[in-house]
Amino acid sequence: MRTQVVIVGGGPSGLLLSQILNLRGIESVLLERQSEAHVLGRIRAGVLEQGLVDMLRAADVGERMDKEGIVHHGFDISCNGERHHINLSELTDGKSVMIYGQTEVTHDLYDARCKMNGNVINEAKNVALFDLETDHPSVIYEKDGKSHKIECDFVAGCDGFHGVSRGSIPTNILREYEKVYPFGWLGILSETPPVSDELIYNQHDHGFALCSMRNANLSRYYIQCSLEDKVEDWSDERFWEELKTRLPEDAAKSLVTGPSIEKSIAPLRSFVSEPMSYGRLFLAGDAAHIVPPTGAKGLNLAASDIHYLSSALIEFYSNGNERSLKIYSETALKRVWKAMRFSWSMTMMLHKFPENEGFGDRMQRTELEYLFSSKAAQTSLAENYVGLPY
Ligand code: APR
Ligand code: PHB
Repeated sequence: MRTQVVIVGGGPSGLLLSQILNLRGIESVLLERQSEAHVLGRIRAGVLEQGLVDMLRAADVGERMDKEGIVHHGFDISCNGERHHINLSELTDGKSVMIYGQTEVTHDLYDARCKMNGNVINEAKNVALFDLETDHPSVIYEKDGKSHKIECDFVAGCDGFHGVSRGSIPTNILREYEKVYPFGWLGILSETPPVSDELIYNQHDHGFALCSMRNANLSRYYIQCSLEDKVEDWSDERFWEELKTRLPEDAAKSLVTGPSIEKSIAPLRSFVSEPMSYGRLFLAGDAAHIVPPTGAKGLNLAASDIHYLSSALIEFYSNGNERSLKIYSETALKRVWKAMRFSWSMTMMLHKFPENEGFGDRMQRTELEYLFSSKAAQTSLAENYVGLPY
């Protein structure tokens, strides 16, 4: 088989790239290791920057988001019970974010791919990349016990942190930067009305907590937990009691609890691998970088990578110009590192660090006091939260 672009990975990055290229008449084959049901069963974050909202609409994937998504113009930060509003729209000349689950984005992308008869191959096993440093790379995979080879012009590595693409870049070229945080997030989904109209980020002596939502009757809550914790250590009752402790009094009183329909613990890390390209291989999304979820940047960074990569591929196939492809890594990394900084700073400001006793605790408290007292500090946070320009 031959195609123009092989896309490895059918999460949001790969699906969005496949959709955009298809709309511009560029052929691609997407290889996803898991079944469609498995991919759609993943619970992920749900805050979309305007850049991603615009990309989904432009790719004919925005209809359900516009019907069911919730536009948010701000959020609250509470510090040991004292609640402060960050007015995103006021601080960013009218910008906002869209609350719409990544699961729904992925669902909409799969539906759009199906409607356009996109070439998406699920349960493609043992993907391997060859001749990336030449102008005729190829990809081998197995499906239903048979081996297949695809010759192509380019490979897009959209296969996440545990994928095969990043590892296909020679170790003497790859540079990795990582920070692992000494705690995790215990998250639950409950079919209950959200505790507040907007998100509440809570800094508390017991640890961080976040009140989020998917819709008017589906709430998403997180509490910072120990890396030693197991999901079975946390009954719903224990979770709700601890969450109430970490919320401001008014929110704790109005919190509607109910049975969890999903409960999981995720570790937090900051990770960047450079470069994001090698020969005809281009990495995008979690294949190249991981952010702690505190700033809700994971999906949004994948979107800006796909914006740069799809534009560069369209330029190449329109007029043979490889310039944007050659500077893709440098271009994408500029925005990646700024989002990495923001996610790191939000994580450092809001979480309890056991080793932070004394000076570290006072720095954290001062950081928050400065934020609450300074419009300049709030403007900086707001412009990063709604998304820096592409
Ligand atoms: N071959 C084929 N597919 C693979 C392989 C492989 N060797 N390895 C991984 N995959 C698939 C995974 O099954 C997954 O569906 O690649 C996809 C990668 O998707 P994500 O991990 O969701 O990464 P990405 O599409 O970049 O989206 C980033 O997803 O995980 C969240 O927090 C993250 O919000 C961010 C977003
Ligand atoms: C979520 O709704 O899952 C969510 C929202 C904001 C974050 C992280 C997660 O910063």
